Amino acid sequence: MSQLKYAVETVGLQKTYVTAKKLPGVMGGIKSLFSTEKTLIPAVKGIDLQITPGEFVGFLGPNGAGKTTTLKMLSGILHPTGGTATVLGFEPWRRNQEMLKQISLVMGNKMQLWWDLPARDGFRVLKELYEVPDAVYAKRADRLIDILDLKDKVDVAVRKLSLGERMKCELVAALIHQPKVVFLDEPTIGLDVVSQKRIRDFLRDLNQTEGTTILLTSHYMQDVQELCDRVVVIDHGEKVFEGTLDLMAAQFADSRRVRLTLSQPVENLETHGKVVLNEYPVVVFEVLRQDTARRTAELLQALPVVDVAIEEVEMDEILRDLFTRTAA
Ligand SMILES: Nc1ncnc2c1ncn2[C@@H]1O[C@H](COP(=O)(O)OP(=O)(O)O)[C@@H](O)[C@H]1O
Ligand SMILES: [Mg+2]
Repeated sequence: MSQLKYAVETVGLQKTYVTAKKLPGVMGGIKSLFSTEKTLIPAVKGIDLQITPGEFVGFLGPNGAGKTTTLKMLSGILHPTGGTATVLGFEPWRRNQEMLKQISLVMGNKMQLWWDLPARDGFRVLKELYEVPDAVYAKRADRLIDILDLKDKVDVAVRKLSLGERMKCELVAALIHQPKVVFLDEPTIGLDVVSQKRIRDFLRDLNQTEGTTILLTSHYMQDVQELCDRVVVIDHGEKVFEGTLDLMAAQFADSRRVRLTLSQPVENLETHGKVVLNEYPVVVFEVLRQDTARRTAELLQALPVVDVAIEEVEMDEILRDLFTRTAA
């Protein structure tokens, strides 16, 4: 396994959903059941991915971009309509047992643990399913439960847990068999900030100490910024960017922010440039990236400044910008 160049590789991976065309009205709804008219939804339109073993990659894109569809193909839940993929050298949709024992998919909005049973019962079922030896299981479950601070939570029915606690239990369940590759689809969605941080710290540790390859989808930029070595951005089923976050910022954010602290109030700040924040004593101007030095010098000349900082545009904003651009 160690000689594998890529933990995950796809070439021209495609998925087009076929659904019956919906006719209007109640009768239309019934007719639709028998209709032969189909609607084609090209969700993933030929994506190339290369993820090396041990990498932590962010998989980003707006709603409907095709992220979940891609992760489902990579974890063997969906057949593609075109292209190829290998995960740890296996074609995932063949659902080879060897592969299934080495991967995991966690979906933030879908649980695999049973609602009415304690999480620990679920862990044991998965242990049997994945044929994890008793001694290995005992150690691993203890460790995961300990790191995620779940000691008092795993012996009560899952339905009695908070959303954050449930998600942490889901992570334990997904990792019992020590997978080499983990696909995480919005694992922190809807969680409070404390749980989010706990899960982030846990995922970082997992990646670093076990060398787990992780492909993560998240709407929280903090997850991506703190965890991912690299991001792949998709939009409308196509890859639109691949690289480090810094590169993404440099490539897609053509502006920077000049944050000034003033020593006295100034009227009509707009006459000095584009003001994006004005809360005395702080004023923030947006300037073109290539003009940063010149414009900063001008602002320092013109205004009573006691402090200055040059900042990148927030990552959220860069992404939003990126998507409106590709849509245009
Ligand atoms: N089971 C399905 N049947 C038909 N269309 C689907 C199905 N699942 C997703 N889609 C469509 O495929 C596109 C991609 O969806 P998805 O992969 O869930 O995107 P994301 O996870 O990036 O939000 C969307 O247009 C969505 O409506
Ligand atoms: Mg999704």
